[in-house]
Amino acid sequence: MRSHHRRAAQGVAALFILAAATALGQGSPVDEIAKYRAALQDGNPAELWEARGEDMWKQARGPKKASLERCDLGLGPGVVKGAYSELPKYFADADRVQDLETRLVWCMVTQQGYTEADAKKNPFGAGNDKKADMEALVAYVTSESRGIRMNVPQSHPKEQEAYRIGEKIFYYRGGPHDFGCATCHGDDGKRIRLQDLPNLTKVDGARKAYTTWPAYRVSQGELRSFQWRLNDCFRQQRFPELEFASDASIALTMFLARNANGAEFDAPAIKR
Ligand code: HEC
Repeated sequence: MRSHHRRAAQGVAALFILAAATALGQGSPVDEIAKYRAALQDGNPAELWEARGEDMWKQARGPKKASLERCDLGLGPGVVKGAYSELPKYFADADRVQDLETRLVWCMVTQQGYTEADAKKNPFGAGNDKKADMEALVAYVTSESRGIRMNVPQSHPKEQEAYRIGEKIFYYRGGPHDFGCATCHGDDGKRIRLQDLPNLTKVDGARKAYTTWPAYRVSQGELRSFQWRLNDCFRQQRFPELEFASDASIALTMFLARNANGAEFDAPAIKR
């Protein structure tokens, strides 16, 4: 773990250089991030979340004082390596399609004895005062799929149903501006202010977007999960809040994850 921390500390130093460089107007933020990423190589501050999540995975916690080391993420009890590359998927014990977060909630309830409400509360962190255990666990589990190709199944009828519902949600337009995901993510080369908007209706765009979350957000000094990304886009779309671990969030995740199949997973990443 030590080298994790040292490299992450170097990362924090490099962040200041990045902030200074962009403040001086040297190149676009996108160029600066690319330079920053190259300078850091594998020293991403996200490693602090990964290390915390790994500790948490192994700690006896909750009313039953159990660790998560027997939690079945789909590849057998306790198998973390590669598990994220096959999620979301159908789990017979829960009789439900679950994404990583929902499965972690399931294990926290069934194995550690938490109530569902406790397991679901505070899914997104906000600085040192409000660290989210869920995001640390997600960082750890996802990091164990780095370099593995996405291979999200569509064999169970409930997996197929989740994909279809996710696709519907993606193209559904509504709210005060009549926006849908495809309004902002359905064309090439679209931008809002300085932000490039990936075309999520194309294979390349979907793959790149899905395989690079969670990400350490330089602008927020926070690790953000894919679920956070979806919630923030619901907000941008002026839709009601996307409920954490809801069937709708799992379906949308299934649609985007499945569309990334074949691409190497490459996160936790680092982003603007
Ligand atoms: C009003 C415009 C808008 C709408 C509508 C919108 N988004 Fe986004 N989306 C954004 C912006 C802005 C970003 C951030 C780009 C950045 O930070 O560089 C983003 C980023 C993303 C990313 C991450 C892309 C990456 O490569 O990191 C995903 C995934 C995503 N949106 C999914 C969705 C989904 C799913 C919906 C529909 C529920 C949606 N978005 C609706 C504006 C929108």
